[in-house]
Amino acid sequence: MPKKIINKVVEKKASRKPRNFTRLRGMKDILFEEHKYWDLVERKTRDLARIYGFNRISTPILEKLDMYERSTGKETDIVSKEMYSFVDKSGDKVALRPEATPGLVRAYIEHGMFNHPQPVKMFWFGPCFRHDKPQSGRYRQFTQFDLEMYGEEGPVADSQLILIAYNFFSELQINVQVQINSIGCRDCRVAYIKKLTEFYKERGKRSRLCNDCKKRFLKNPLRLLDCKEETCREIREDAPQIVDFLCDSCREHFIKVLEYLDDLEVPYALNPFLVRGLDYYNRTVFEVVALDEEKSFENKTEEVVEASVESEVEVSEEEVEENEPGNVSGRKLLSLGGGGRYDGLVEYMGGRPTPACGFGIGIERVIMKIKEKNIPLKAEDENILFLAQLGDQAKRKIFALFEEMRRSGYHVRQAFTKNSLKAQLEEANRLNAKYCLILGQKELMDETILIRDMESGTQEVVDFKKIYTEIDKRLKNN
Ligand code: HAM
Repeated sequence: MPKKIINKVVEKKASRKPRNFTRLRGMKDILFEEHKYWDLVERKTRDLARIYGFNRISTPILEKLDMYERSTGKETDIVSKEMYSFVDKSGDKVALRPEATPGLVRAYIEHGMFNHPQPVKMFWFGPCFRHDKPQSGRYRQFTQFDLEMYGEEGPVADSQLILIAYNFFSELQINVQVQINSIGCRDCRVAYIKKLTEFYKERGKRSRLCNDCKKRFLKNPLRLLDCKEETCREIREDAPQIVDFLCDSCREHFIKVLEYLDDLEVPYALNPFLVRGLDYYNRTVFEVVALDEEKSFENKTEEVVEASVESEVEVSEEEVEENEPGNVSGRKLLSLGGGGRYDGLVEYMGGRPTPACGFGIGIERVIMKIKEKNIPLKAEDENILFLAQLGDQAKRKIFALFEEMRRSGYHVRQAFTKNSLKAQLEEANRLNAKYCLILGQKELMDETILIRDMESGTQEVVDFKKIYTEIDKRLKNN
């Protein structure tokens, strides 16, 4: 047989062989049990957004690549190293969104929202993509909850956003620390960057920097401050602090933000080295980091906890899966959320000058923390009534009863595909049912139904017509 044909036959055979498909690295499936946590957290985001007057907005997952280059910043790690970008079939350069803010600014401009009453307050929830090294709590697809406020330059906006972020975590019983800094405006940064570069040029500090920081020194010296490398952090210790270089109006703004936070009793820690890894920020920047149990907010501190944000130990993909939930010890300061002011971005992206600020919170990390603490979820499955049947006739009758009870608002469950009573009771147990209503041949003939208390195992026969009174009586007594 000619070689070409042999190859074709081999290929065909190979394609018929069963294959195992697994999910991509750094991406996760959210299975049934975990969705309970997602429901809880999503509910909290929606409630807070509603209470504080933020309206929900959604944007496409795919956007133009140059939009991120211009906003997040071409030199940032997110854009230069982590973006999922490609040329689509029409030849457009596009990217899966690595963060929500640029798309929201685009939407604000594109839909003429400067004509709406200001501030425009947006609530956003959705997946983001960053091709980073997967670690425990770091995924390539992850979900963010964002709140953004456009058209308000007063410090009250910054403080309110920080307050909401803080409330979000404390109401979910997660111990956090809010770290805060001001990186000033373009004007005050000029003098600071000059001083900072002079500092790094002194006594061979520059040559000791990591390779990334050597590049940062030339392209974006401010980012030398948030490097995670040990040596770079050591050098940074004596670096000049930007708060000492703030112009009068930036200093006043920052002081006001802190005063509001004090009034609102939101604990925070000043972190003079917090600059955040995105290009668009000015003035207030903040990050919410997870604290270990023993470091609760009882001791309000203005000191920075001595460790870098996200100083996790790198783990393999398998470990990432195994580590969830629980074994994430040693990672005291995992960043759960971050944000700040970005007054120049709307104009820089083609809109009218519009002050803005916001934050983003990583939902997977929040859920990881809730699981770690073993916080019992509020039972959504209270007062479950399980409807069981034996035989065809009973099945038909209980089918109708199920629909009737469901419409009347009872928490009914069933397993009509199972015929054996034992299997149905097992299912009722699994669902944590309070009572099981059992209809068999005998009950059908007598026009009765059996009510079984699933906890005690006691059973009572009641008149089928009185089923609602009997059930209500029992539920009321509990
Ligand atoms: P960010 O700090 O890049 O800020 O991300 C916000 C949060 O998203 C992080 O604190 C973290 O919880 C979560 N996150 C980021 N990357 C990952 C990842 N690979 N896996 C899991 N979670 C992750 C922003 O994205 C800004 N857009 C926030 C903002 C909104 N600033 C103003 N408005």
